[in-house]
Amino acid sequence: MQSNRKLIMSRHHSDFYEEIIDGISYCLKVSSGWMWVDLDTTLKAYGYYNSLENKEGLVEVLDAWKENEKIYILMEYLKEYKTLRLWLTELHPEEEIEEVFLKIFKTLSSLASQRVLNVDCGDGNWMINDNLDIKMIDLDTMITLSGVEEITNIPRMRSFGLGTLDLILKFNKCRRLNAK
Ligand SMILES: Nc1ncnc2c1ncn2[C@@H]1O[C@H](COP(=O)(O)OP(=O)(O)O)[C@@H](O)[C@H]1O
Ligand SMILES: [Mg+2]
Repeated sequence: MQSNRKLIMSRHHSDFYEEIIDGISYCLKVSSGWMWVDLDTTLKAYGYYNSLENKEGLVEVLDAWKENEKIYILMEYLKEYKTLRLWLTELHPEEEIEEVFLKIFKTLSSLASQRVLNVDCGDGNWMINDNLDIKMIDLDTMITLSGVEEITNIPRMRSFGLGTLDLILKFNKCRRLNAK
């Protein structure tokens, strides 16, 4: 196996690499944790993710592991995609906006039906391409709905409710702007 790693960008708590393994390009997120969630909780979140049966609308994650007090997440590289946050600043036909948000809400609903929530589901954590394929990234705070104990790990500032409400408000605003 041949592998090489090239830094794409650094953010607050994470570095992103393009990792080419046997000629295929992946995205490697190396996360040093953030104020609300510790590394073990993050790793556990990817364990829940692994156990899902339906991963439609979610970024494909190939591996997640802990090494030297950092979490490594190897996932598909959404190279031709942009963030939904950016997409929403552009003008789009009403049908496209509805199609995109329908996909988002279907993904959230499918997750909930599998008794899982991603508590950080705002517009910065969705990627979209020109074909309107849309995928949720940043699954670091995915939790199960099966136990109260796990729910207490929800970062209060970015609760699932707020993230979803934010998306609904943006949907309506975007429709109004585009109708003008
Ligand atoms: N799999 C991916 N493919 C392409 N770009 C990605 C991928 N994952 C993340 N990114 C880029 O990195 C940014 C931050 O990723 P994210 O996982 O949301 O990090 P953070 O935890 O800092 O919010 C995204 O907005 C996107 O631009
Ligand atoms: Mg994010």
